Amino acid sequence: MTSTAPVAWITGGTGGIGSEICRFMAKEGYQVIAGYNNPEKAQKWLEQQKSDGFDNIDISGAKITSLESCEEAVKEIRDKHGKISVLVNCAGITRDTTMKKMTFEQWQEVLDTNLTSAFNTCRSVINDMLDDGYGRIVNISSINGRKGQFGQVNYSAAKAGMHGLTMALAQETATKGITVNTLSPGYIATDMIMKIPEKVREAIRESIPVKRYGTPEEIARAVAFLAHKESGFITGANLDINGGQFMG
Ligand code: CAA
Repeated sequence: MTSTAPVAWITGGTGGIGSEICRFMAKEGYQVIAGYNNPEKAQKWLEQQKSDGFDNIDISGAKITSLESCEEAVKEIRDKHGKISVLVNCAGITRDTTMKKMTFEQWQEVLDTNLTSAFNTCRSVINDMLDDGYGRIVNISSINGRKGQFGQVNYSAAKAGMHGLTMALAQETATKGITVNTLSPGYIATDMIMKIPEKVREAIRESIPVKRYGTPEEIARAVAFLAHKESGFITGANLDINGGQFMG
C-alpha cells in the first residue's frame, strides 16, 4: 500500500553520510528508501533504524552500476511506496593510489560506482519526475572533484563528472519543476576517511581552515535544504561544504 509521504531514494543510504541523510529526511516526513551494497549490513542497519523509531525508512538493493537493476528497483519502490520525488546520489567508493600504480580495474570500479551510477539512477527516475512536473535530485560529489587530490585520479574524475551531469540535466529539466544540484562535501568524519594513512589524514585536517572534519549531520541538513520544495530557484548549482578547505 502506498502512503502519501513524498518518497526519497538515497543511494549509499547505509553509509557514513548516507545514514545521516536518511534519518534527517525521515524526520522531515519523507518515506525514505536507502540503497545499499551489502545485504547483511543493510538488514541490520534497517533493524537499527526501526528500533530508533524510524518506521518510514525502507531499503532497496538496486545494483547502481546496472541501469536494468535501477529501473527494476524504481518500479518496485513505486508499487510499494509511490513515485520517487527526491533522488540523492550518495553512493561512492575510493580506491586511492597514485597514477603510476593504479590498475584499470581501480579506475573503472570508481567510475562505475561514483559516476555511471548517477546516470543509471537519474535515467530510472526522470520520466516519473517529468510526468509529475516535480522532482529534486541532489548529487553528492566531493571537494576532490573540485580541486583534484593526490592519489585520486579516478575519484576526482568521477566526482568532477558528476557536476557536469548535474549542470546538463538541470538545463534539460529547468522548465519541468525539477531541480538538479551538486553538493560537494569536504573531509567528513566517516569510515571512508579512516582508510587514509594517519599521518596524511592529520596533515589534511590541519589544512582545513576550521581545523576539524565535518559531520554527516552538516551534510544531511544541506541535502534537505536543496531537496525542499521551496528551493525551486536553485538548480545546476554546486554547494561546497568543506570547512573552507577549498573556496572555488
Ligand atoms: N602532495 C604531494 N606529494 C605527496 C602528497 C601530496 N598530497 N601525498 C604524498 N606525496 C608524496 C609522498 O611524500 C611520497 O614522496 P617521495 O616518493 O618523494 O617520498 C610520494 O608522494 C608517495 O607516492 P606513492 O605513489 O608511493 O604513494 P603511496 O603509495 O605512499 O600513497 C596515497 C599514496 C595512497 C594516495 C596516500 O598519499 C593517500 O592515501 N593520500 C590521501 C588521499 C586522499 O585524500 N583520499 C581521500 C579519501 S576520503 C574521500 O575521498 C572523501 C572525500 O570526498 C573527501
